[in-house]
Amino acid sequence: MSIYILGIESSCDDTSAAIIKDRKILANLTANQHVHKDFGGVVPELASRAHQQNIIPVIDSAFKAAKIHKNQINAVAFTNGPGLLGSLLVGTSFAKAFALALDIPLITVNHMHAHILALFIEDDAHHAAPPFPFLCLTVSGGHTQIVLVKSHHDMQVIGKTIDDAAGEAFDKAAKIMGLPYPGGPLIDKLAKKGDPDRFQFPHPKVPNLDYSFSGLKTSILYYLRDQLKKDPEFIDKNTADLAASIQKTIIDILLFKLKKASEETGIKHVAIAGGVSANSGLRSALKKESDAGRWQVYIPKFEYCTDNAAMIAINGYYKYLNKDFAPQSLKPFTRYSDD
Ligand code: KG4
Ligand code: ZN
Repeated sequence: MSIYILGIESSCDDTSAAIIKDRKILANLTANQHVHKDFGGVVPELASRAHQQNIIPVIDSAFKAAKIHKNQINAVAFTNGPGLLGSLLVGTSFAKAFALALDIPLITVNHMHAHILALFIEDDAHHAAPPFPFLCLTVSGGHTQIVLVKSHHDMQVIGKTIDDAAGEAFDKAAKIMGLPYPGGPLIDKLAKKGDPDRFQFPHPKVPNLDYSFSGLKTSILYYLRDQLKKDPEFIDKNTADLAASIQKTIIDILLFKLKKASEETGIKHVAIAGGVSANSGLRSALKKESDAGRWQVYIPKFEYCTDNAAMIAINGYYKYLNKDFAPQSLKPFTRYSDD
């Protein structure tokens, strides 16, 4: 018999609902919040309020799109961390009420694990799911991790950023260039027309498999400040080359430690996940490793890279199989111990 899970994501600024039938997505809908654009980043209070406005319409639309009735749902899975507390509480409260009303199990999902498990969603293109163990570079607006994935339930963070996340590096660089938030997708778009070797930015020296991106932000800031003194139109004249050079630097930094992790563990099945895995330069860099025969690579479908509830639903499916249910008394967490 098929298992139907309702997945809910509300950890940051996207209110998303998905319905999964086993590993197949029937609906995956997201209400993006535009209230943050003028602030150059997500404002927690505004995010929480927008989630409250969006959650019922988004869930209602997901049921309509999936063409199923709520009584068919076997369990409700939701993000209970890491994320913004006020945002998490909206999804948590809805999920608890829904589970209670329908007398079905409640399943908590770690947002970072869910990004990785998005690789296991069955889609029409029949992307092969990675075999265990594999390495996953999980790169988002709040996290940058190299994860040793041993099973759907057993994941070990073997490297992480000591300061900014890769997505933050994209967003902050874009902000310095005067681009709106979130800057990552804009840098990606502009980079396509630019020369990635035009400007050189330093790489951090961090031990082991860890990352650091705060130095890059500072060096871009100082470099542009100096250039703007000589030519106030420097950024406008060089937007595409700056975007391409910044993107290349971030990707080179990410790949350097990922290659080190592969050498140290001997694992050649390598995946990417999280919002930054939507970046076309990062996707090509991974494909290059695959074409050269060095790695077997696994890249999530574009729509499952940035925050979405489909990834929460697939994580819910695997936890349902394990009967890994949560009590009504649970509380959301802003950070996990391995963050
Ligand atoms: O996973 P995600 O949607 O939310 C978090 O959990 O943080 O990731 C959002 C991050 C933002 O920093 C955004 O700028 C970045 O992912 N991002 C990109 C691209 N699309 C989203 N960065 C570079 N290139 C992209 N195409
Ligand atoms: Zn995310």
